[in-house]
Order: sequence, then C-alpha cells, then structure tokens
Amino acid sequence: MIPTHLAIIMDGNGRWATEKGLHRWEGHHKGAQVAENVVRWSSNRKIKYLTLFSFSTENWKRPKEEINAIFSILAEYMKNRTDELIENNVSVKFIGDLEALDENTRKVCLEAERKTSHANGMTLNIALNYGGRAEIMKAAKEWNGIGKFEDHLYTVGQPDPDLLIRTGGEMRISNFMLWQLAYTELYFTKVLWPDFSEEDFDKALSDFSHRKRKFGGIN
Ligand code: IPE
Ligand code: IPE
Ligand code: MG
Repeated sequence: MIPTHLAIIMDGNGRWATEKGLHRWEGHHKGAQVAENVVRWSSNRKIKYLTLFSFSTENWKRPKEEINAIFSILAEYMKNRTDELIENNVSVKFIGDLEALDENTRKVCLEAERKTSHANGMTLNIALNYGGRAEIMKAAKEWNGIGKFEDHLYTVGQPDPDLLIRTGGEMRISNFMLWQLAYTELYFTKVLWPDFSEEDFDKALSDFSHRKRKFGGIN
C-alpha cells in the first residue's frame, strides 16, 4: 500500500551544513533540491497528496539572515520550477499564514498556486509560516458550531496524512498538523534532509506498507 497522503518534516539542513563547515543557508539550498526530488518521486509513485513542512510559525526565532535565505530559496524555486510542476500535473497549495510574508515571496507563492490550479495529478501542500496550533485557532474562530470543523482547516477537502516522515533524528511533531496527524503512521529517520535519497524514501514507504492500521478498532 502506497500512502494517499504523505507528510514530511524536512529536518536537518542546518546540522548537515555545519558538519561540512558550510553556512546554514547552504544546507537549506541543498535541502530544496531534495524537496524537488521528493516531489518527483512522490508523483511517480502516484501519491495523491504530499505535504512538505518548509517554515514553521516558530522558525521566526531564527536569525534574520537565515530566515531571508529560506524565503529567497523558496521564491527562486517557485519561480523556476512552476512549469515543471505543470508538466508533471502537480498543483501547489500553500498552507499557513502567507500574510506575514514579504510581498515578493507572497506574490510568487500565489502565482504558483494560480498557474498550477488546473493540474489534477498530485497536490503539493507547502506548509509555510505554518503552525498546527495557529491553524486550529483559525478554524475555531471561523467555525460556527455546525458543519464540519475540518472544513475550516487549511487542508479542507483532503484526507489526513497516512504517513509522516521526519528526517534529522528528532522524534517530535514540532507543531505540525496537530489535528490531521491523529491516526497517521509515524516514521523517524536519522538521515539529515539534504542526504535523504530515493532509497531512504522507498525504505519509509516499504515500512509503511507493513503497518497494521486499526483506527481504534480491532483487526
Ligand atoms: C529544517 O532544517 C529546515 C527548517 C526548519 C526551515 P533545520 O534548519 O531545522 O536543520 P537543523 O535541525 O538545525 O539541523
Ligand atoms: C520543524 O523543524 C520545522 C520544519 C522542518 C520546517 P524545527 O527544526 O523547526 O523543529 P525543532 O525546533 O527541532 O522542534
Ligand atoms: Mg531543525
């Protein structure tokens, strides 16, 4: 079984760079290339939804230079790769609070969403200035007590993730998709994100295929 929805906490860019005596932004740069690969691998394997955690509501605590580097790498990627996404029939959706982003990054993101909106292959959610608690708060403010609470989450209309992969060795959720991960299978690997290979990717998918999901029931 292939997950219908795969979510990934792409962690370890900074350590990867530091270990090599490089600047942290160089880790983010390499990490963006790996993210691009993962989009291709996922689409090739017919995964329907891929969610990548790119920047959390807590990552604003980092030095300004690192934050700027992360956004400029992302903006560059979105500008240069939108056509490739269209060719692969991938539609992009940003989840998170884009209002807080600089004008250019926000424009590039909205443009990528607009240009890929007709694609009906894989949906790529890019979690940007995303926090699980902030998302639940937003939904709670909108929800009127009737109708589905889920319809007010960023992931409206999408199934919950079947598998969560976190690279970089930490075994925590770090405020990612708190609502949606309720019954998600978790997979942690020590591999740092910039080193994450197609073999590592397939290892996670193979591990998932052997999980027995019960959702509170019995087999
Ligand atoms: C993940 O890598 C990328 C972002 C959080 C933006 P980190 O930058 O957290 O890398 P480490 O955890 O410091 O190695
Ligand atoms: C989670 O990684 C956020 C992203 C991958 C974007 P962090 O590096 O921010 O998480 P903590 O600080 O180790 O919990
Ligand atoms: Mg980290």
